[in-house]
Amino acid sequence: MQQPAALELIDESARFFSAPDGDPLEALEKAHVTQLTICDMLEQIADSIPGQINRLTCGRLAEMLLPLIRNIHSFEEETLYPQAMDRLGTAPEIETTITRLKFEHCEDECFAEELADALHELASGNAPKNPEATGYMLRGFFEAMRRHIAFEHDHLVRLMRHAVTEEQHGLVTG
Ligand SMILES: [Fe+2]
Repeated sequence: MQQPAALELIDESARFFSAPDGDPLEALEKAHVTQLTICDMLEQIADSIPGQINRLTCGRLAEMLLPLIRNIHSFEEETLYPQAMDRLGTAPEIETTITRLKFEHCEDECFAEELADALHELASGNAPKNPEATGYMLRGFFEAMRRHIAFEHDHLVRLMRHAVTEEQHGLVTG
C-alpha cells in the first residue's frame, strides 16, 4: 500500500477505535488490517535507515502509534475476549490463549512507547545515534506484532467464527 493510503487507513482506524461499535469480529478484522499496515510501514522505515527516511511518515506514526494500539487492545480485552469466553468457555485452552494474548498486549504497549520516541527522533531529521539499534528495535516490534496477529487469528478468530456459524445453524434448524 502507498504511504498516503496507509496513513489514511490508520487515521480512519484511529477514529473508529476511539469508540468502536458494530460486530466485534468485523472490528477485530479492522484491527488486524490496521496493525498489519503499521507493521508494513515500520518495515519500510527500517529499510530506509539511515539514508532515505520519510520524516513525515515517522512523525505521523510517532503520534498515532501508542494511542491507537492502546485503543485496539482495550477493545479486544473489554469487548472481544469476554465475548469469546462466553461463547467458547468450554473450548480447551481458551483461558490460556487469552492470558497469553493479554500479556503480549502489555509487552507491545511498553515497546510502542520506546518506538514512538525513536520515530520522533527519526522525524526530527537528526540522524539516529545508533541506526542499527533503531532498525533492530523497529524489526523486533513489527515481527512480534505479526506473530501476535497470526496467533490471535488462528486461536481465537477461527473458533469464534465457527461458534457463530453453529449458533446461526442452531437458530435455522432449531
Ligand atoms: Fe490482540
